[in-house]
Amino acid sequence: MNRLQRLFLPLLALLMFTATSGWTQDTAVEEPLIIDFNERFLPVVARHGMVVGPEQLAGEIGSRIMQQGGNVVDAAVATGFALAVTYPRAGNLGGGGFMLIHLAEGNRQVFIDYREVAPAAASRDMFLGEDGKEDLMREYFSLQASGVPGTVAGLLHALETYGSMSREQILAPAIALAEEGIPVSFALSYELDTQGKRLRQDPESLRLFFKADGSPYEIGDRWRQPDLARTLRQISRHGADAFYRGDIAQRIVAAMESGNGLITMKDLADYRAIERPPLRGRFREFEIVSAPPPSSGGVHIVQILNMLESDDLAGMGHNSAAYLHLLAESMKLAYADRSQYMGDPDFTDLPVAQLIDKDYAARLRKLIDPAKATPSTTIRPGQALLPESKDTTHYSVADEKGNMVSNTYTLNASFGSAIAVPGTGMLLNNEMGDFAARPGQPNLFGLVQGETNSIAGGKRPLSSMSPTIVFRDGKPWLATGSPGGSRIITTVLQTLLNAMAFDMNVATSGISARIHHQWLPDEILAESGISPDTVRLLEQMGHKVELGGRTIGRTQSIMMEDGWLLGATDTRRPQGWVAGY
Ligand code: GLY
Repeated sequence: MNRLQRLFLPLLALLMFTATSGWTQDTAVEEPLIIDFNERFLPVVARHGMVVGPEQLAGEIGSRIMQQGGNVVDAAVATGFALAVTYPRAGNLGGGGFMLIHLAEGNRQVFIDYREVAPAAASRDMFLGEDGKEDLMREYFSLQASGVPGTVAGLLHALETYGSMSREQILAPAIALAEEGIPVSFALSYELDTQGKRLRQDPESLRLFFKADGSPYEIGDRWRQPDLARTLRQISRHGADAFYRGDIAQRIVAAMESGNGLITMKDLADYRAIERPPLRGRFREFEIVSAPPPSSGGVHIVQILNMLESDDLAGMGHNSAAYLHLLAESMKLAYADRSQYMGDPDFTDLPVAQLIDKDYAARLRKLIDPAKATPSTTIRPGQALLPESKDTTHYSVADEKGNMVSNTYTLNASFGSAIAVPGTGMLLNNEMGDFAARPGQPNLFGLVQGETNSIAGGKRPLSSMSPTIVFRDGKPWLATGSPGGSRIITTVLQTLLNAMAFDMNVATSGISARIHHQWLPDEILAESGISPDTVRLLEQMGHKVELGGRTIGRTQSIMMEDGWLLGATDTRRPQGWVAGY
C-alpha cells in the first residue's frame, strides 16, 4: 500500500461504510488513519481541481473557474487578480512576480518572468545620501522605491497564451469583490493594523484602507474598493494597454510627477513580461523545475540539493543536529555565491551552469566539516568554482490531468511602499529595495549582494522567489512556493527535502519547523519547534543560533498522488485556504 492509500483508504472506507450502514465505533476499520508520526498533519483532498493560497475568497474563485470549464492557467490568473482585491499586503496589480506552469499536453513547462523593472532614469547610487549611507526611507517608502510593475502584463500574457477563457470572464469575479466589498477578516484587520502607521502617512492609502473618519475597519465590516473595481474594469475592457499606455498609466505617471518618482509613460509602454527557460535540476529520482534568474531561488535550491544528494539525510534524522548542521553549512556556501554571482541575466552573464553543476556541488560538499561550523568570514563566494558565472505571496493550482501552476508575486514589503496611486485603488511596490543599493554591504535584512545586482535603468532586481514544481519518475508531483524574502529559498528547499528525503506528506512537509542561514549574518535562525537540545548541539559545533524568533516563510502546496490532489496551506500565517472539488 502506498502512502496515499495508507492515509486515505481507511477514511474513504469509513465514509462509505457509515453512509451505507449503521456504523458504530466497534466496527471501525482495522488500520489507524495516522500510522506514522511523519504524517501528523493531513492535507485536504480533492479529485478534479485545486487552488491553495493565502486567502479564501480568491482561492474559491480560482476553483470555481475550473469548475466552469477553465484550465489551471485561467484559475491562476483569476486568483491573481482576486488576491489584488482580497489580500492587499501582497496580492497586487502594482508589483511583479514569477509564474511556472506545467502543461500536461506536450509535457512541458513554461516560466513567465513578470518581475518589476527599474525605470530608465534609475542609477547605481540613487539611494545613497551625501554621507554615502543608504537612505532607507527613499529606498523602501518613497515613489522612487517602485520598479515598473509587471503583474498585469504577466497575468494577461499567461491568460492570452495558455488560458482558455476571455479576459472579461476571468476578471469579473475580482471586479465584483472590489465593487460589492468583502467582509474584513481577522487576518485583514490584523494586517491593516500592523502596517497602519505607514499606510496612514500616504493620504491615498489612508482613504483606501481606513474609514472616512480615519478609524480602522472592524472584523466583519464590509470593505468596498470602487477605485480598484474601476481599474480592474479598464483592464478587463482594454487589456494591458489600459495599464501600460492608457488611463492607469497616466495616473501612475501623475503620481510619480507629484513627488520624486521616476517612472515615465515610456517606462510603462516599454514593459514586457518575458518567457524564460525554467531552471532544472535533479535530486535522486526527482526532477526539480524552478525559477531561473533574475530569481536566485531555483539556482540555489538546486545547488544545495546537489550538495546534499549523496548524504543519508533520513538516516541522520529529521531536524537532528547533524542534519541541520549540514543544511546550514550548505546554505552558507550557496548564499555566499548568491552575494556575488546573481542578478539580471539580461545585464550580466551569470555562471548558472557552474553553480548548479553536480561536480561543483561535490567540491563544495568537501568543504563542510561534519563536526564543526565554518565561520562565514572564511567562506568566499565561488571558492570552489573552477577558473573559467518581503512580503510576497504564493499560490499553487492543479487539476486532475496533472496541469500545475506555481505562482509567486509580490509588492516586496507588506503593502509595498504603502503609497497608492490616486484614483486607481492600487498600491505601488518597493521592489527597488531588492537591488544592492551599496554593493558588497549588507542591506536591511543583513543580506550582502554584489555589483551584479547594482541598480541600472531597465534592469530587473534580483529576487529569491522560487515557484517550483517537482516531478517524480517523470510525473508532476509537487507544486510549492513561499513568501519570505531571502528566506524563500531555504523555506522551499526544506519543504522539498521533507517530501523527497523524509517521505513526509504535503502538509507535514510544509508545517515542520525550519531553519535559515544566509551566510551573512553568520547565524542560524531556528523556528520554535527545533529542540533546545538540538540547538545546544549546534552551538557546540560552533554555530550561533537564534531560536524561536519570527516564523520562516509560508508555503502553499499541492501534491498529486495516484490521481488525487492533496493540498496544504502552511499555518504559520492565518486564514490560508485550500479550495478544491
Ligand atoms: N521581494 C522578494 C523577492 O523578490 O525575493
